[in-house]
Amino acid sequence: MKIVSLVGARPNFIKIAPLVNRLKLISTVEHILVHSGQHYDDALSGSFFRDLGLPEPDVSLQVGSGSHAWQTAEIMKRLEPVLIETKPDILVVVGDVNSTLAGALTAVKLSVPLAHVEAGLRSFDMRMPEEINRRITDIVSNLLFVTEESGVENLRSEGVPANRIFLVGNVMIDSLLRNRSVAAQSNILKELQLVDGRGGARPYALLTLHRPSNVDNPSVLEKIMKAVTCIGESLPVLFPVHPRTRGHMKKLSHGNGFGENSCRPRESGVFPIVPLGYLDFLCLMDQSRLVLTDSGGIQEETTALGIPCLTLRENTERPATIRYGTNQLVGQDPEVITRAARKVLAGDWPKGTGPPLWDGEASQRIVSILLQQSST
Ligand code: UD1
Ligand code: UDP
Repeated sequence: MKIVSLVGARPNFIKIAPLVNRLKLISTVEHILVHSGQHYDDALSGSFFRDLGLPEPDVSLQVGSGSHAWQTAEIMKRLEPVLIETKPDILVVVGDVNSTLAGALTAVKLSVPLAHVEAGLRSFDMRMPEEINRRITDIVSNLLFVTEESGVENLRSEGVPANRIFLVGNVMIDSLLRNRSVAAQSNILKELQLVDGRGGARPYALLTLHRPSNVDNPSVLEKIMKAVTCIGESLPVLFPVHPRTRGHMKKLSHGNGFGENSCRPRESGVFPIVPLGYLDFLCLMDQSRLVLTDSGGIQEETTALGIPCLTLRENTERPATIRYGTNQLVGQDPEVITRAARKVLAGDWPKGTGPPLWDGEASQRIVSILLQQSST
């Protein structure tokens, strides 16, 4: 059996790693890893390959950044000859980024069967580029691997036949469970001077932001930073700044010290730092008092770790993190955010029981289904 997997952006690498590890143990499978080059900085790409023990990609399409149409089309143009030459039995795409959509469209137009890992998630907000990517990818997928019950319900209500839908759990949590103890050895707490006198972690919060709806509009970003600065008066807020956000932070005007060099610690209690590698970031999440984020993956990881998470969005495509986890939606209103943070710091937050099947075995289930399908 020949399987091609396409990845392109930071969260994709984390999702594909457990599958690559399983597939390499199967002698009858030839696996070809293709990197679109959507993310290319070492801090967003190379460091993840190293931390996750991923092999170098077999094929690098090296597309780089561009508008949505340009980037999606360019990945399609460069992937098409790879699929024609390798003739895979299946193309695997993960998540909801432009690389996912480009892979899906290229495969279906060549009649290459398609598997989508993390299918069925819906925010029902078509202003999100990811929602468009997910919906179109799911329409053309042959095998839809789903992380949570809501995904099965969404796909069924969209008319996807039941025999294509597989509730398998969450490959991102496979990676987390596999790497949690290694991450605990990271030096990042020492490097950031977050170790207390007894060798434990000092209290701190962790922030990530990169959704266009939060960072591309200066007045929204300004509002969020106002809330974060307020939280920073109670405990330090560590803020690894995504490259999309970096440029927008520089434009902020309200004199809170983020304007000129967004990667230097400030007196405000908010500490912008460079994006971290997977293991360092996992270590920081695992020891933090509170996570504030608009990330999809981090909502899931905090639920798996049992760390309180305030999601700076009005909706989530991952309702299991609220139903079974530690996640709360707080939107962008500074008062709502600071009030929610105060409650969390006072110990009042949902503890959660963990979503079904987030047990570290999702990749095993997916591989078994892929092998079964190839033999039928
Ligand atoms: C992308 C995904 C988003 C995902 C996120 C994960 C889409 C539409 N968006 O958003 O769903 O949550 O990745 O982090 O696919 N840049 C760099 N270095 C890089 C890559 C990008 O500096 O290695 C800068 C470029 O200026 C680029 C901008 O970041 O224009 C945005 O990159 P892009 O991949 O288009 O979108 P993300 O915001 O990273
Ligand atoms: N992450 C990381 N370093 C950082 C920020 C995030 O390793 O500085 C990891 C995080 O643990 C999660 C993934 O990146 O596994 C999430 O990616 P991101 O938030 O960029 O994308 P999304 O999940 O929103 O698509």
